Amino acid sequence: MRVLSGMRPTGKLHVGNLVGALESWVKLQNDNNESFFFVADWHMLTTGYQDTSNLRENTLTLVREFLACGIDPQKSTIFIQSHVKEHAELYLLLSMIVPLGRLERIPTYKEQLNEIRRRDISTFGFLGYPVLQAADILIYNADGVPVGEDQAFHLELTREIARKFNSLYSKVFKEPKTLLSKVPKLLGTDGRKMSKSYGNVINIDTNEEKLRSMIMPMMTDPARKRRTDPGTPEKCNVWAYHKAFETPQEKLDEIHEGCSTAKIGCVDCKRILIESMKKRLSPIWEKIEYFKTHQKFVKDVVLDGDKRARIAARETMEKVENAINLVR
Ligand code: TRP
Ligand code: SF4
Repeated sequence: MRVLSGMRPTGKLHVGNLVGALESWVKLQNDNNESFFFVADWHMLTTGYQDTSNLRENTLTLVREFLACGIDPQKSTIFIQSHVKEHAELYLLLSMIVPLGRLERIPTYKEQLNEIRRRDISTFGFLGYPVLQAADILIYNADGVPVGEDQAFHLELTREIARKFNSLYSKVFKEPKTLLSKVPKLLGTDGRKMSKSYGNVINIDTNEEKLRSMIMPMMTDPARKRRTDPGTPEKCNVWAYHKAFETPQEKLDEIHEGCSTAKIGCVDCKRILIESMKKRLSPIWEKIEYFKTHQKFVKDVVLDGDKRARIAARETMEKVENAINLVR
């Protein structure tokens, strides 16, 4: 299978991105799928065009974090969207066949227009966001796209665009499958949706001290008001983190039993969680540091990825131009 996915460079990755997205990307890569992973820097501009002061740094940070989390440039093509201009070419051609009303009716579009009040996103670019995403996907003829649930509407549109193009001109595109992640979404440390603006996220690039300061005050099962009150792990966000960070089974059994009989306290339980998270994250911390001091390596990864991506993209664009009867 050919798989592809992208992420916007909006700042550091958090543990939700790691468990919800990157771990599944790495798995797809290691299952011998032909994999393309990219930094969607143009997409970041659709909402963030007013302040691009961190864009360059965030883009490079994201590449380093991809690598640190296990995306392997020997196995996957890692590239930057804006380096493969063919995405813009296909975006333009696709824009001809997408009805305006179809874009305006996408639920996430309306939602975001209402939600993002600080920035003016009633722009052409933001309306076109899902068309650009469709171009990202169709230009590689991807079979599968690993994304979160919030992207399902965009994938649906992508398939519609593929169908319409194929029936108007000739069959150039495959209809890509949505590969939804099986792990449940990790909530923020306060039990609400993970969001930078709530201050409830743990970045993957953190350290032991910061980890402790985020985990220790975490909300637990509300039934455990006192140390002697028994609890139900399934009602506790700390438990969800234990699962996500693969606390060993025998420890999980111990916690489950200890929590429901009030044998262990939440403080002990959280200490164990910190250990599990440290175990998972510290190799990532080391790699992030490594790539910070080996910028040439990171640059070469991207140059090579850009080149490979461009070859695949050009191949599709030739078919597209032929199908539309553009003179080549
Ligand atoms: N819209 C995606 C997100 O916000 C990012 C993205 C851009 C993407 N282009 C893509 C994801 C193509 C998958 C495929 O997460
Ligand atoms: Fe949650 Fe652990 Fe406390 Fe049980 S012991 S309520 S699982 S933090």
